[in-house]
Amino acid sequence: LSQYPHINKGLEGIVAFSSTKSFIDGQEGKLIYAGYTIDTLAENATFEEVCFLLWNDRLPNQSELDDLTSKLQGERALPESVLNYLQNTSKNAEPMAVLRTAVSILSDFHEVDADTSKEFRLNKAISITAKIPTIIAAFDRARNDKNIVEPLSDHSTAYNFLYMLNDEEPGEQAEKTMDLCLILHAEHGMNASTFTNRAICSTESDMYSSVTGAIGALKGPLHGGANQAVMNMLLDIEEQGDDPVDYIENRLANKEKIMGFGHRVYKTMDPRARILRGMSEQLSKETGHETLYEWSEAILNTMKEKIGIDPNVDFFSATVYYSMGIKPDLYTCIFAMSRVSGWTGHYIEQAENNRLIRPRALYTGEKDLDWVPVEDR
Ligand code: SDX
Repeated sequence: LSQYPHINKGLEGIVAFSSTKSFIDGQEGKLIYAGYTIDTLAENATFEEVCFLLWNDRLPNQSELDDLTSKLQGERALPESVLNYLQNTSKNAEPMAVLRTAVSILSDFHEVDADTSKEFRLNKAISITAKIPTIIAAFDRARNDKNIVEPLSDHSTAYNFLYMLNDEEPGEQAEKTMDLCLILHAEHGMNASTFTNRAICSTESDMYSSVTGAIGALKGPLHGGANQAVMNMLLDIEEQGDDPVDYIENRLANKEKIMGFGHRVYKTMDPRARILRGMSEQLSKETGHETLYEWSEAILNTMKEKIGIDPNVDFFSATVYYSMGIKPDLYTCIFAMSRVSGWTGHYIEQAENNRLIRPRALYTGEKDLDWVPVEDR
């Protein structure tokens, strides 16, 4: 391996693919999905339009958008055995683990790799994207001994998810907030879950396997799991009656990582955090959770002053979801509900220009050991 003298731990700075899905300027704090800035999309798009954009590299016209929306609406229902699984698994299971298993089971009921056409892959992407909200809502209701609410055959992904979760029609603001969260989380370059998804795709495995693997990668607290950890930190501060600044300073003194801060690519404020910060401020005030928002700001200032690190997407999304009355252990599932659009877009891109992903490791073990019989070890 003498030709590989340098190890890029965590693959930092390695460019392994070309992609038309998104561009991140980590110095300037800019994010673009297939040509459109995140601010433009946040202001104008719907999640369904963003799905089309990530799957086709262009915005849909009205009839294409109507067609995609109705296909997504038509694919929301789950096979009976997935519903049975959601009703019968442990009520204490982690929702992300349940989502991972349920997506995996879905493949038993669909042709997985019958066809390599773009249309076949797009239909798979639509089917998986449409079913993830149903899985999350159904498990949450089942674990709370509530009736499972069947998906609607109309309305947006955001509306239908909140409806299935709460068994009541969401207001316009709740739908808009959820839609915006879905737009903001849809795509982000070669993050760990998208990389996992592309690595699985590169073996010519199917899209269910790729999405299942990606959910497993997203679940960890260094990635998507951070939003739940942020909320748990804020609730911990509340429960302990701690001062948030002291709390953070003590943890930094113990060399602990503060969830929702730092990023491999951004060296400034994550533009999604900037948008979510405004949403968090407004919603927290409207719902009587101002204190949590004020603590978030105090934590942000402390992190900036003490170690010069900015918040990432997971920091303010926590208080946004909390203000919407959503349980913290569903936050990462909502991330997955959105990011599946990016994962499947990358799956199609990888599949259409594939080469097996297979890096190397520098071997640092022994090479000349003699065999010792088991009884002598
Ligand atoms: C997401 O990749 C993506 O694009 C991901 C994502 C997406 O949309 O897909 O943006 C979503 O996953 C956001 C990140 C969520 N994770 C967290 O919030 C967990 C807390 N953050 C960190 O653990 C960390 O910042 C990472 C994991 C996000 C990034 O890790 P890196 O790039 O490997 O950086 P590092 O751990 O080597 O940190 C560099 C320095 C270290 O200090 P030194 O050893 O150099 O003195 O910065 C410090 C770190 O200790 N540091 C932190 C910190 N983040 C970095 N110190 C305290 N708290 C933190 N959060």
